[in-house]
Amino acid sequence: LENSLARTPPMGWNSWITFELKVDEKLVRSMADAMVTSGMKDAGYVYLVVDAGWKGKQRGPRGELVADPAKFPSGIKALADYIHSKGLKFGIYTDAGIKDCDSGAPGSHDHEAQDAATFASWGVDFVKEDWCNTAGLKAQEVYTKMSRALRDTGRPITFSMCEWGDNHPWLWGADVANMWRTTGDSKQCWDCGHDTKDKPGGYPRGWTLILDAQPTLKQYAAPGHWNDADILVAGVRGVPVEESRANFSLWSILASPLFVGADLRSLSPKLKDIFLNKEVIAVDQDPAGIEGDRVAKRGDGEVWARPLANHDTAVVLFNRGPSPKTIAVLWTDIRKTSNETLTVRDLWMHRDMGGHRGEYSAMVPSHGVVMLRIGPSQP
Ligand code: GLA
Repeated sequence: LENSLARTPPMGWNSWITFELKVDEKLVRSMADAMVTSGMKDAGYVYLVVDAGWKGKQRGPRGELVADPAKFPSGIKALADYIHSKGLKFGIYTDAGIKDCDSGAPGSHDHEAQDAATFASWGVDFVKEDWCNTAGLKAQEVYTKMSRALRDTGRPITFSMCEWGDNHPWLWGADVANMWRTTGDSKQCWDCGHDTKDKPGGYPRGWTLILDAQPTLKQYAAPGHWNDADILVAGVRGVPVEESRANFSLWSILASPLFVGADLRSLSPKLKDIFLNKEVIAVDQDPAGIEGDRVAKRGDGEVWARPLANHDTAVVLFNRGPSPKTIAVLWTDIRKTSNETLTVRDLWMHRDMGGHRGEYSAMVPSHGVVMLRIGPSQP
């Protein structure tokens, strides 16, 4: 969406994957504090998004959305003020249908202008609009309505659509939103099959299944509008560190928005090293905004690559197998010729690995990655 926002993929924190409906103002304030003290804000994570669970069960006397008074006794405006006082931006959740997903609170259907005005009056900077309880509604029409309502408030608001890819939002979303979900919800598992509750065939569950659904969509991403591979599972309870590093690296190759879902109040040093890795963040935030994809698969060893603005190539060697494995990127995988000498930098070791001819290979841990930046040889 050409609203001058999201020129690079939006970055921040989202409450859903760890807290689900258990959000309240105390939690959100402490998370705002943690975004600053952990260094996340300075690394570029500026949006604090309160997902489902904030709304009261009924609209107010003038039909306006109201917060659950037990969870947010000071009101949303005061919360937004607090978040802004920390130098952060505030994101909120609604649904395009008659009710939100999961919470049963009122959705924004037929209240788009009123809800957009309410959000703007609170100082909202980001709106995520979900797609539950939308029987009979047309996604493009309904999301366009909210998009225009947000624009008409005059406040710059990043708009995030969440309809899980069923209506192919990549085909029409560039004029409507700054990002759109491409699949169902990421779950903190490597591969937990498909959720067939809501549709035949089901939505992929588990972060590697979500990853596998992305490569055909790369042509639709560009500055202002991004394919959203959903909240990072990195650092979420139960996800091993190697997998966290892999999830974070691959989402950066995908130019996906980076929304951390982990509890920022208790980040281990290892997780901090992941989320605060400036060299990997720079790949995600590369100004050319070209989404990468898988360029080679040799057994369990995969090569993912993304062209960067300065003509370097970001590369992830990804090991899906059960044991450590040597994986090579061939220069021909990344559209270079075998007789070229290219320089390699390891983005997790923060080390220059020198010049290499034809290929570069490294030992990659099970379910882990090695991430590289490959450029022309230095004279
Ligand atoms: C849907 C969305 C999730 C989250 C929940 C909230 O499942 O896809 O991202 O917003 O609803 O209820």
